[in-house]
Amino acid sequence: MAAVTEIAQDLFRISIFVPEINLQFNHFLVRDDEPLLFHTGYKRTFAEVRDAAAKVLDPSKIRHISFSHFEGAECGALNEWLAQAPRAETVVGLVGSLINLQDFAIRPPRTVTGEDAIDTGRYRFRFIATPQLPHGWDAGLLFEEKRRTLFCSDLFHQFGDVEPITDRPILEEARKALLAMEAGPLAGYVPYTRHTGRMLDELAALQPATLAVMHGSSFQGAGDRALAGLAEIMRSVLQPDEHSSREGSLYLRLGGYDAIASIVDDLLASLRADPAFARFGAGRSLDSQNRARQLLVDQVCALAGGPCFYTGRDMKTSHAGLRISEDEWEANLRYAGDALQKHGIGPREQAEFLDLFARYKQDIVETTQA
Ligand code: HEM
Ligand SMILES: [Fe+2]
Ligand SMILES: [Fe+2]
Repeated sequence: MAAVTEIAQDLFRISIFVPEINLQFNHFLVRDDEPLLFHTGYKRTFAEVRDAAAKVLDPSKIRHISFSHFEGAECGALNEWLAQAPRAETVVGLVGSLINLQDFAIRPPRTVTGEDAIDTGRYRFRFIATPQLPHGWDAGLLFEEKRRTLFCSDLFHQFGDVEPITDRPILEEARKALLAMEAGPLAGYVPYTRHTGRMLDELAALQPATLAVMHGSSFQGAGDRALAGLAEIMRSVLQPDEHSSREGSLYLRLGGYDAIASIVDDLLASLRADPAFARFGAGRSLDSQNRARQLLVDQVCALAGGPCFYTGRDMKTSHAGLRISEDEWEANLRYAGDALQKHGIGPREQAEFLDLFARYKQDIVETTQA
């Protein structure tokens, strides 16, 4: 049965989880004088979504139906909804109207541009054309101006039966999902065009406070930063050429994120086991150690050309006053080499990895003797 959650005032998320593919399909219903539905869902889930919507309002009173692009989960049940709600109008951009809906829909759509406001009473929506973002020539996203909600369709796709809305960052999960899609039979999910970065910038400039996500948790918080982060993820995952040599980035050659995390963990385990490094761990909470560990993973991942960001402090600041010696530096490099060896990393990649560290030596080493 679909789960209904009011994720923000008057904004209801109707979620169907499909365990076979570990994916949620979310439909958004806005309660207002003229209720609006974003994503009709598949034809086969029409009754389920309608019955869930009926817990919030009378489904036959829906007046506006919109979606991002022509696709089963986005609009497969459009005609069922148009039949259910006799006064409902499909709100769609020019391309979707011309190439699909004027033919497909049982009633002519309302064709809008970004100039047209769709007033529903307390709320006001705009359909922003975003060709090929997330995908499809006809793609667009809906933005509600009063509460600054961006209906994101497939952007920020995350796998799992996750919470309806979160204020924790969803970027890491979105990155993993994009990588997983690219590695499987559905590769090519999201194209990266010369307009992608600009369109994401323009969406960020809207400063959404809520991101209503089709697959995965919706997000409440700084939508502009989330979109900037997504832009960076898409660029690095979908345009790997920028970060890599012809044979692939060091990130890929090391075996990707999980391999890097595991190498870092082995390095840290060796350092912790060595009494000569005990002074660096003493008096630090587990959380502070975990934080430094995650920062190091992110940093190595990013330096190796992977789709990560390093958000920590610079190396001079974070090591100043630790009095790290030349000998400690050498020992650290040996442990890193051992960890790489243990993971079967080839000599060339080992050297490149250690080079990533070497560039920070002047910032980290403070004394010649221990
Ligand atoms: C002998 C070698 C090293 C020692 C003993 C060492 C020790 C430490 C210690 C004790 C901290 C925690 C500082 C704090 O709690 O504020 C730290 C932070 C950190 N270290 Fe190192 N480090 C070494 C080399 C490196 C190298 C080679 C890198 C990567 C290039 C690195 C990356 C980091 C990062 C990312 C942080 C966290 C920065 C932050 O808190 O914002 N360290 N290191
Ligand atoms: Fe989708
Ligand atoms: Fe889609």
